[in-house]
Amino acid sequence: MKETDKNSSPKKPSPAKKAEVVIHAKGIKKAFGDKEVLKNITFDLEKGENMVVLGRSGQGKSVTIQCIVGMLKPDAGELTVFGENVAEMSDDDLKQLRIKIGFLFQSGALYDSMTVRENLEFPLTRVLKLTDQQDIDKRVEEALDSVGLLDAIDKLPSDLSGGMRKRVGLARTMIVKPEIMLYDEPTTGLDPITSREISELILNMQKKNKTSSIIITHDMECARITADRVVIMNDGEYIAEGSFKELQKSDNKIVRSFFSDTI
Ligand SMILES: Nc1ncnc2c1ncn2[C@@H]1O[C@H](COP(=O)(O)OP(=O)(O)O)[C@@H](O)[C@H]1O
Ligand SMILES: [Mg+2]
Repeated sequence: MKETDKNSSPKKPSPAKKAEVVIHAKGIKKAFGDKEVLKNITFDLEKGENMVVLGRSGQGKSVTIQCIVGMLKPDAGELTVFGENVAEMSDDDLKQLRIKIGFLFQSGALYDSMTVRENLEFPLTRVLKLTDQQDIDKRVEEALDSVGLLDAIDKLPSDLSGGMRKRVGLARTMIVKPEIMLYDEPTTGLDPITSREISELILNMQKKNKTSSIIITHDMECARITADRVVIMNDGEYIAEGSFKELQKSDNKIVRSFFSDTI
């Protein structure tokens, strides 16, 4: 606290509150055969924060996410989610953990034979085990409204555009109000306008639900819109970290390769 801060009480300076860490990773390593993919991944994701990960393809960004949800086990390093060591969790613990973590896959897969309403009911009845139909209807309508697709409630995924399907996928992931969201290339394959809509929805979800998120993307507009913090992944490590604006000014050649078209 600054001494010149006139509004603060001189008697009881409250110590700077330490942010709550929801994911802690330190020195994570992961190899497949003799191919070292993750060499030294270290980061803390704070509650309510959007962290964007930039990196060329094949760098291990998706592998990192799979380690966080316990689908892959790191060879070395510390990895805790909500303070619990993921590698030591039982299948039941992992199930519980995955309820708190929303995972938007690259494809955002919906069930093709189910209507939009049924797709959204699925996590409520199967994961949260809700039975009160009025409550279910209300949550489905709210979630669809928040992605601007209430009109599409009785349609089949095949009746929707790629961007609309992505938005429904996002609504379906968010409907259980996960505390952490992991977005793996949420705007890949979408046109610039739809990409922007998705990026803005990601930002709205963060503000509305105080969600903590990791967003893997190549889309610099998505990074600009959503990121509180950007990390650059290269050769199995994070080599740079900062706000979008800070990294835009970087002299580092690899960082520049991402940001050179954004100014
Ligand atoms: N389950 C797996 N078994 C073997 N190799 C894998 C597996 N998952 C990922 N890899 C390899 O790890 C590397 C990083 O993959 P990935 O995390 O998908 O990269 P990206 O940064 O593009 O998301 C790639 O070379 C990929 O082939
Ligand atoms: Mg990937």
